[in-house]
Parts: sequence; C-alpha cells; structure tokens
Amino acid sequence: MCGIVGYLGPKSVDSVLIVGLTRLEYRGYDSAGIAVLDKNEIVVRKEKGKIKDLEELLLSHPVEGNVGIGHTRWATHGEPNRQNAHPHIDTAGSTAVVHNGIVENHHALRLELIDKGHVFHTETDTEVIPHLFEQYYKELKDAPKALKATVDRLEGRFAFVLLLDKFPDRLFFARNGSPLVYGKGRGESFLASDVSAIVPAAKEHFHIENDQWGWITKDGLHLHNGTSEPLPFELTRTQFDVKTLDRGGYEHFMLKEIHEQPGIIRGIIQNRLNDEGLVTLPEMQLPNDFLNRVTRCIITSAGTSWHAGIVGKFYLEQFARLSTEVDISSEFRYRNPIADGETLVVAISQSGETADTLAGIHQAKAKFCRVLSFVNVTTSSIARESEAFIDLMAGPEIGVASTKAYTAQVMSLLLYAQFMGGIKWLGSKEDRLAILREIRLLPEKMERILARAEELKHWAHELRDSKDFVFLGRQHNHPTALEGALKLKEIAYVHASGYAGGEFKHGPIALISDQIPVVCIAPRGELYEKMISNIEEVRSRKGRILSICTEGDEMVRSKSDFCFEIPECPDYLSPLLAVIPLQLFAYYSALERGCEPDQPRNLAKSVTVE
Ligand code: F6R
Repeated sequence: MCGIVGYLGPKSVDSVLIVGLTRLEYRGYDSAGIAVLDKNEIVVRKEKGKIKDLEELLLSHPVEGNVGIGHTRWATHGEPNRQNAHPHIDTAGSTAVVHNGIVENHHALRLELIDKGHVFHTETDTEVIPHLFEQYYKELKDAPKALKATVDRLEGRFAFVLLLDKFPDRLFFARNGSPLVYGKGRGESFLASDVSAIVPAAKEHFHIENDQWGWITKDGLHLHNGTSEPLPFELTRTQFDVKTLDRGGYEHFMLKEIHEQPGIIRGIIQNRLNDEGLVTLPEMQLPNDFLNRVTRCIITSAGTSWHAGIVGKFYLEQFARLSTEVDISSEFRYRNPIADGETLVVAISQSGETADTLAGIHQAKAKFCRVLSFVNVTTSSIARESEAFIDLMAGPEIGVASTKAYTAQVMSLLLYAQFMGGIKWLGSKEDRLAILREIRLLPEKMERILARAEELKHWAHELRDSKDFVFLGRQHNHPTALEGALKLKEIAYVHASGYAGGEFKHGPIALISDQIPVVCIAPRGELYEKMISNIEEVRSRKGRILSICTEGDEMVRSKSDFCFEIPECPDYLSPLLAVIPLQLFAYYSALERGCEPDQPRNLAKSVTVE
C-alpha cells in the first residue's frame, strides 16, 4: 500500500528514486511522483499511472539534484490522478512529503489548518502533513521540534519522509505502523518502505520502529522517540540477493514464481526435515512446556493466506489433535474472541505487513495469548510483533497474486502440525517416516505438473469468453477451490466463486447452466466418490466440467469437458499439487483477456491499511 523512498548522496537522485520506486511498485501502482531539491528549490514531478509513465515525464521535464523523495501510490483518499499523487507540498512550497498509511484525523486537521490560512490542493489525507509541519516550524522555528509536534497530532498508521528546502543535507522521517527502513551506503543514505528498494547500495540497514522519528544525512541516521535524547541503534549487514528481483527470463513475475514452487518446497524440506522425519524449527522460540499445554489454536490471516490457514486447520487437527479455528483477520480483530493464555494464535502473512492481521495480533496479545506468525519477510512488523515466527522461506514474492508463498505456507503449516504432534507424542516413527517419504516426492510431482502448463493455456484460450466460474472442492481441497476462484478474480477479472462440494446443493447449484464452467477438484482419496456426485450434479444440469483429477483417472476424464491430471498423493498433500494448475489457468486467462497479471487493477501486494 504505497511505497516510499528517500535519498541523500552523490548520485543523481532521480535515477536512484526511479530504481527504488520500480522495486516498490508491488505496493501500489496507480500514480507516482518524486520531489527533488534542485538548486535549493523543491521541484515536484508526478504522474498518473505506473513508474514508466513517471519516467517518461522526467525525460521531457528533467530534474537535477542529489537529495529527494519518491512515492508509488495505492489510492485511499482521493481519486488516483496526477493531482492526488505524492509528493505533497505545503503552502509556501518549502516542504514536500511522501507518506504510506492513513491519517485518520485528516479532516479535522485540514479544517484547523485552513482556518490558519493554509491552502490545500488535493483530496488526500497526506496533504495535512506538510501543512502541519509548516505551521509548527513557523511557531517553533526548529525542525526536529516541529516534526515531533506534527507527529503528535497525527492519528492512524503512517511512515513518511519530509524534504525541506532549508535543510539540503537532511531528510526527516517518522514512523508509526507502516514500515520504514534506513539504509547506509558509502557516503550515501536511504529511506524506503522495504530493503529491496535500496540494495545493493545500502550495505547496512536498520528497521525504524514505531514512534521513532528523526533525520538522515548522507553519513548517518539520527534517531529519536518521545524523548529529546538521540536513541542508540545497531545497523545490520544487508543480505539480499538482487537476482531475486529479476524476472529471470520469464514474461512475468507470477509465472516465474509459479515455476519456483518445486525448488522452494525442496528447500523447506531440506532445512526442516531430518532423515527420521523429525521437524526442526530453529527460529521458532516458543518453549516446549507452553506448546505442550496448548489445546487450542486460532489462525488469523487474509486472502490467500486465509486459504492456507484453512488447510492448516486440517493439519493441526489431524496431526496434532489441536482444536483449531480459522478467522479472517479483519473479522478476528473486531470479534472479541474467547481466548486465554493457553490459546495459541497463529498469524499467517506473506508480507508480514497486513494491517488487519497486525491488528489481530495486538488483540491477541491484549488477551495474554502467545502469537506465532508464519511470515515470508522475517524483518516485517508481524514477525517482530509476534512472540515467535516461522520463516516461509519462499524468497521475495513480487507478483501481486500470491502463488509460491501459498504453497510455502501450506507446507510450513504441515510441518508445524507434525512438530506439534511430536511434542504431544502423537504418531509413531513409522507414521513419521511414511509422511516423510511422501513429502520428499512432492517437488518432482510439482515439476511434472509444471511441464504440462500448455494444457492450461489451452483451457484459458477455449474458455476466454466465459464470464462466471464455479470452483468445487472438499476437505483439504475446499480451500484449493477458494484459492482457484480468487486467483481468477484478481488477475483475470472474471467472476468466480469457490464452494465446499457438499454445500453446492444448498443454493449455488441454481447458478448452473451451459454458460458456467465448473472446476471440480477431484483427486482420488477419501471423498473422491462425493466429488464424483458433484460432477454428475453439474453434468445433469448441462454445466461444463473442468476437472483436476489423479493421473490415469479415466472415469473423471470421461465425465469432463476438460481434464488436468495431477500425480497420485495422499489427501493431505493434494492441496499442494491441485492448486498449481489453477494458478496457471488464472495466469493464462489473464493473458487471454489482455490483463496484466503482475499488477492487477485496484490491488497492491502489501495491504497496510484497514
Ligand atoms: C491474493 C493475495 C492476497 C493476500 C492478502 C494477505 O493473491 O495475495 O489475498 O494473500 O492480502 O496478504 P499477506 O499474506 O501479505 O498478509
């Protein structure tokens, strides 16, 4: 939800900002802008659209300088147009601001500032920040004091960076809730929403914490919180493989990330499972005596991570006999759940920054629950605010639609359930070894699916005119149905709904006609026959059947208009295989329909607002 970047150093600031913003574009891409100190004057360039549109503007209207700030936007307040794009400036044009988050009391502040003579030009909440700063600077005549006074008036979540024409050698910043990282290079300093924007130049970095504010110079960071004393901090060596930010020869990040899944699962297995089938989770620092006492889990997550959570519920119940609820984060945070110190709250988040999930963590902690998070970004707010975390080990996910993080979440939840089962002395060594054998076969089975991607391309082409889809699955593959439908909606803009197979006859079956393709996830397993009944119900109403079935299943094939076979596996592993053809189907459907899969409209990768 909006990416921000700031730079001070010897390089041409416009190119540094463009590189940083391009890396942050996953956070929002409806408009972008930069403000540069050009011969002691703040010059702003902003444009509706993507970073490439801003780059074009800069070619025709260049700027020059070595200090500046930049922003890529996901609109919350005010239409995504050039005027509402960041940076925003004060009345005198002496202060420019880029901001990520929401200033919840912006309306009252705006009225107060207008009363004092400030002139506003946009519909955004952000615009109050430069004006407030301008006001306090006029009154206090001291920039750090004016910044602190500004921060004290803001309600909501924010991270912002201020460029001041009177301080050409500093950038001021503040953080409360939205991420902000300081990066130190050789004679240069950076601020950014995440570290990917400032590598490889930022050799060391520091994650600014909530309630901290200060300024950077080209040589360092000056950090403060409520007190006026500077705060000590420790820089961490930046270890970030820049190659992961590359499409690696694939047309889109989404396709690359779909194809990365076997390697990621292989890596998780190698890191977490020994030859005895025992799971090791070295980074998860929750004491065994507490884990032994846990009898109940509440999983909280959003979107695709919520779907992974539903699979996780099956695992925790099946392998660790833990009573488990799964709640959408935005519901959990407001529902005053019954939970106490013996309840383990499990938060799942790829980005580790989802505002609703973070708010749920705060709720859980207020009830003295311990929180374990599954995160792909181990330096994220969710990782840091949880008592312990498990690293998903999926590597940076850039495509807005989550794919590899989903399978990494499901795999990690499976291993965590095995781990909890071990703590509770459930399951024999033979059981463990049998599961280990099956898990080790997964990457190769995934590769076999990926090798047949062309079949899904064909589905997408043949069904390019269909306007509605239904996805059906049971038990472990109910969430697969939800996920398949979500992928199609979000990147191909096709209406799709996922249902539990047994629930279908309780209403949604009324939808069926020859216009509605129904994706039936029907691998061989415990509820196979029940899925066959679903297929028959759809066929008898002239619905078109697209099936995902087990290799060699002639029966399902004969009843289907389109059929994709996945390798045989136990029920509990089938979600990890069955989801891959659905990811590919959504991807190729997006291409067929002229949609941009990596940057779907109205979405952003990291949802840091409520
Ligand atoms: C869908 C998707 C979203 C995210 C959701 C939660 O493809 O990516 O539904 O899963 O916004 O995000 P995280 O996992 O970062 O908390």
